[in-house]
Amino acid sequence: MKAIVYKGPNKVAVEQVEDARVESATDVLVRTTTAGICGSDLHMYEGRTAAKPGMVMGHENMGVIEEVGSSVQQLSKGDRVVLPFNISCGTCFNCTRGFTNACLVVNPEGVSGGYGYVGMGPYRGGQAELLRVPYGDVNCLKLPGEPGDAFEDDFLLLSDIFPTGYHAAILAGVDVGTTVAIFGAGPVGLLAAYSSILRGAAEVYVVDAVPDRLEKAKQIGATPIDFRKGNPVEQIKSIRLSNPLIRGAMRKGEEKMAGVMSGIDAIGYQAKDFGDPSREMSTSVTDALADLINPTGTLGVVGVFLPQDPGGANEAGKRGAYTMPWGKMWEKGIKLGMGQTPVKQYDAFLRNLIIAGRAKPSFIVSKHIQLQEAPDAYQRFDRREPGYSKVLIRPGAAAAH
Ligand SMILES: NC(=O)c1ccc[n+]([C@@H]2O[C@H](COP(=O)([O-])OP(=O)(O)OC[C@H]3O[C@@H](n4cnc5c(N)ncnc54)[C@H](O)[C@@H]3O)[C@@H](O)[C@H]2O)c1
Ligand SMILES: [Zn+2]
Ligand SMILES: [Zn+2]
Repeated sequence: MKAIVYKGPNKVAVEQVEDARVESATDVLVRTTTAGICGSDLHMYEGRTAAKPGMVMGHENMGVIEEVGSSVQQLSKGDRVVLPFNISCGTCFNCTRGFTNACLVVNPEGVSGGYGYVGMGPYRGGQAELLRVPYGDVNCLKLPGEPGDAFEDDFLLLSDIFPTGYHAAILAGVDVGTTVAIFGAGPVGLLAAYSSILRGAAEVYVVDAVPDRLEKAKQIGATPIDFRKGNPVEQIKSIRLSNPLIRGAMRKGEEKMAGVMSGIDAIGYQAKDFGDPSREMSTSVTDALADLINPTGTLGVVGVFLPQDPGGANEAGKRGAYTMPWGKMWEKGIKLGMGQTPVKQYDAFLRNLIIAGRAKPSFIVSKHIQLQEAPDAYQRFDRREPGYSKVLIRPGAAAAH
């Protein structure tokens, strides 16, 4: 089969590799119809992880079942499925409590398994024609319809980004009437904003500096904040305090709540310095959020921070030992949630919202490509070029546009 293979920093290639196949009785073999390229793939692409050359990339995968192992019970050849990026056994202590992001069985190197990702076990990715899905009954979400129909892109986003955006909203305590600020208008940040709106948030601010990404935030009803125009914390507080309706509803003392109740970091350790966006400053966003979140508020961090970062700007960064303004966080009593998304906690419900026509997350998809175009697309996505914010690969199909 043809697959996208990691070759080393800033290089992926389309190569012929051994076909994926059913290796164990519980496996399912899927013929990939769509696979996403993700911001998380860029951490490896840029050589900022311990990823070794030779790995088949791709953790955002969907397709049609080609073959089922002899003990697979609930799925059949021909079923259309999307695969949560976390691979889980379904029966261990963490999986049974819903934490399929911390499965104790599938990854000999640690907790949590995934497709085509460093440190997440020996599983090849789905940026390829075929994909082996371990524990098929657990790891396939069944889909209606036909490959390539009007839901194809929406369903693909159930593998990672839509549940991750939704998880961010949950971690940050977003509920009816909440005020929310999201840093990062990449696919994750935009779907965190979209999920916040689905959950009934009153005000949603999205901070970034990339114009076409901020424009998408505006289109879904969020307030875009361009950090090149000034300190984003001050911009948001000033928008709130200068709005006569928001200000007019505040009793004496409530101006101390000029920030937001929920803050989301949808960027992670590669956050840019607000003052000089050509530089990275891993703690710029968490510092800003500690300032912006009101007393008694909540911070959700879905952007990735790694325990080791060979390309870290300083010694602490290389050891993943980032600083956090604990004093301010403690004084305000800010609650904190972070980590990898347990996709299975959300994907069936979000699928049902899509089917019912109440959610259409594919507004973030900017381009469809064929497998052979992927090396070029990785490079352009890595430069955050316009039109490359969310690229979907259609292995085996002609590019749609
Ligand atoms: N928790 C999980 O399970 C999970 C799942 C998927 C992705 N992620 C992570 O989420 C993060 C975002 O993913 P993505 O695909 O949206 O990535 P992305 O790189 O496309 O988006 C990040 C955005 O942040 C912006 N940005 C950088 N510095 C900023 C700053 N200081 N202030 C405001 N905006 C800033 C960039 O311009 C970019 O638009 C990544 O770290 C990714 O690995 C986590
Ligand atoms: Zn992803
Ligand atoms: Zn498990």
